[in-house]
Formats: sequence, structure tokens, C-alpha cells
Amino acid sequence: MNAGHTETVRALRIGVAGCADIALRRMLPAFAASPHTEPTAVASRSSEKARAAAETFGCAAVEGYDALLERPDVDAVYIPLPVALHAPWTERALRAGKHVLAEKPLTARAADTARLLDLARERGLVLAENYLFVHHSAYTAVRDLVEAGAIGGVRALSASFTIPPRPADDIRYRADLDGGALLDIGVYPLRLASLLLGSELRVRGAVLRHDTVRGVDLGGSALLGDPGTGVSAQLVFGMEHAYTAGWRLLGSEGSLTLDRAYSPPAGHRPVLRIERPDGTEERILPAHDQATAAVAAFAEAVRRAGQGAGQDKGRSSGDAAAVLRQAELVDAVRQAAHLVKI
Ligand SMILES: NC(=O)c1ccc[n+]([C@@H]2O[C@H](COP(=O)([O-])OP(=O)(O)OC[C@H]3O[C@@H](n4cnc5c(N)ncnc54)[C@H](OP(=O)(O)O)[C@@H]3O)[C@@H](O)[C@H]2O)c1
Repeated sequence: MNAGHTETVRALRIGVAGCADIALRRMLPAFAASPHTEPTAVASRSSEKARAAAETFGCAAVEGYDALLERPDVDAVYIPLPVALHAPWTERALRAGKHVLAEKPLTARAADTARLLDLARERGLVLAENYLFVHHSAYTAVRDLVEAGAIGGVRALSASFTIPPRPADDIRYRADLDGGALLDIGVYPLRLASLLLGSELRVRGAVLRHDTVRGVDLGGSALLGDPGTGVSAQLVFGMEHAYTAGWRLLGSEGSLTLDRAYSPPAGHRPVLRIERPDGTEERILPAHDQATAAVAAFAEAVRRAGQGAGQDKGRSSGDAAAVLRQAELVDAVRQAAHLVKI
């Protein structure tokens, strides 16, 4: 980078660790389309897979993730690996001096998340967790409506994210890779609950249906409450269900309902249903590409870290605090859970 006063803002050079479905389908197109980022290298355990992805996105193909971390043309690494590999590869990337955008959940245990956030803060690097939906403008509209009193005082959230079974060899059925419905799917409504109800939520109960053959949970539910206000959240998640991806926020004078709440395609116009005693309105919100928005937010965080703001980041700052709180909620669900063996 130019150290003078006329420093130009260069696109953040991204290296992708693994030709994951989410990388090829959503994130690489977003990195390539964004003016803030440029994919420079794609790594895979298989050189053939890396070559095919690199050709599509006009960047270098790399065999092995270690080789990716050694590249000087990579400023930040995107990690879309199975959950159990997030922590070790995030740590290696941070130690190699790279900023990291890790897929959700950042790790499987809050202690690992805390350790990695500390490491990133010590090194002045950005460590972000890739929940896309929090960047969707629909949530700004929801927050504005709630703050304007559209549903009165907020009382409760009910949310579900459930999907049909995946192919038998899916990483979500692998206990050794930290698969399971809580870590893959339940994390979304948990993140949603903090987003809509704030940071004071505590887990008050949970049930997990545990597949004893594969050693992973296939679904479950959790009850959370804010000890100060009594506002509560009932969350359902799973991967042996009909597809649902919606929530309802209930207030003293009405409610808000949103479907396709977590992974709407870029062109989708969310329909926010506002129910009040005087009638029901279906407000059609603008389409928003949440992957592009997440990429822009990550690039902006790196830019700010480059200006020294990274030193102030850490557990007390906004994003890192939210990442740690989310990991603590996931741990708390696991600890509270009544395990039903099937
Ligand atoms: N933010 C979102 O909207 C979103 C959506 C879906 C998934 N995700 C998250 O993204 C991550 C990947 O999910 P996915 O569905 O894209 O998974 P996937 O298609 O199975 O990809 C995982 C990748 O990890 C690499 N890998 C390394 N070691 C592996 C091993 N032992 N077994 C299998 N793969 C291994 C493979 O890349 P190479 O073979 O190329 O090395 C593979 O392509 C998960 O953490 C998931 O929770 C996020």
C-alpha cells in the first residue's frame, strides 16, 4: 500500500479455502462482483476442483489451504469448510497475517471463538462470521418499524428454520466434522433472536433429537428469555422437516411476520406482514443482495482496521461482542438440551 497521503483504496484480495457449495454458489460471485473485493486465489484439496473454480472466477488455482495462506496476493481468507475445520484454519490464517471471513458458525465452542477473537484483536486483524441475513435491508426496515412503535412493546419471537433431509454423505451428518442441526441450522434463529430482541437473552430450555447412529442432532427447539423484561423467544430448527424459514415478532399492539428470512435469493422482494387491530398490511420490501452487502461490510471492517480502528476492536466492540455472544448462546443450548436419542 502507498504510505503517502494519496493512498488509493485497493480492492481487498480474497483467497478462498475450499470449493464449498456456498463458496461457488454465493460468495465467489459476490467477491467477484463487488468493487470492494477481488478473488485472487481459490484453494482446494483437489487441484482439479481448484482449477475449475479458478477458471470460472478468473483467479489462481491453489492445491491445499496452506499454500493459499503463503500467498502474498491474499489479504483476507474466506473459510467455507466443515464446522470442525473453521477454528484450526482460522487460527492458521490469522497467524499468517490474513484477515478472516469464516462461515457460520465461526467455531463449535465459545471458548474457541473467544480465543480466536482475542488473537485477531492482538494482531489488528478482522475476524468476521458470515451470517448473511443480518446484512439484508429488510432487517433495517424491521428495526425502524419496531422503533416507531408499529407493534407496540415487543413481547415475544417465534422463529423456525427447518429443511428436508440432505444427501446421506452431507457434511451435516458427520459428527467428526461437527455436523448436526444446531450448529448448521439452529444457529440462524439464535442469531435472529439476538438481532431482534437484544443481547440479554438467556437459554431457559432446549430439546435436541439425537441420531445415535450418526452421532449428530437432527433437530430441536430452544426457549430463551430476557431476565430483565421477560421477553421470550421460541425457536425450532432441524434437517428432517418440511422447509420453513420464517418468524413472527409479537408485540402488545400487533405483530410482524417474515418468511424466507435467512437466505433469500438476490432478486427476492421480502414480504413483511404487519398485523394490527385496525388491519393487516403486506409490505413488499426492496430486493437486496445480502451476500454482496456482507462482502461490502467485511471489506469496510478491514479498511477501518487498516486505519488503526482494529486495535480498538475486541470483545467490547460491536461485531466481536455479537460473535462471542452468539457462540455462548449455542453452548448454552447444548448444555440446557434434553437429548432425545433416536
Ligand atoms: N452463510 C450461508 O448462507 C451458508 C450457507 C450454506 C452453508 N454455510 C456454511 O458453509 C460451510 C460449508 O457448507 P457447504 O454446504 O458449502 O459445504 P460443502 O459443499 O460440503 O463444502 C465444504 C468444503 O470443505 C472442504 N473440505 C475440507 N475438508 C473436508 C472434509 N473432510 N469433508 C468434506 N469437505 C471438506 C471441501 O473443499 P475442497 O474439497 O475443495 O477442499 C468442501 O467443498 C459450513 O460451515 C456451513 O455451515 C453457510
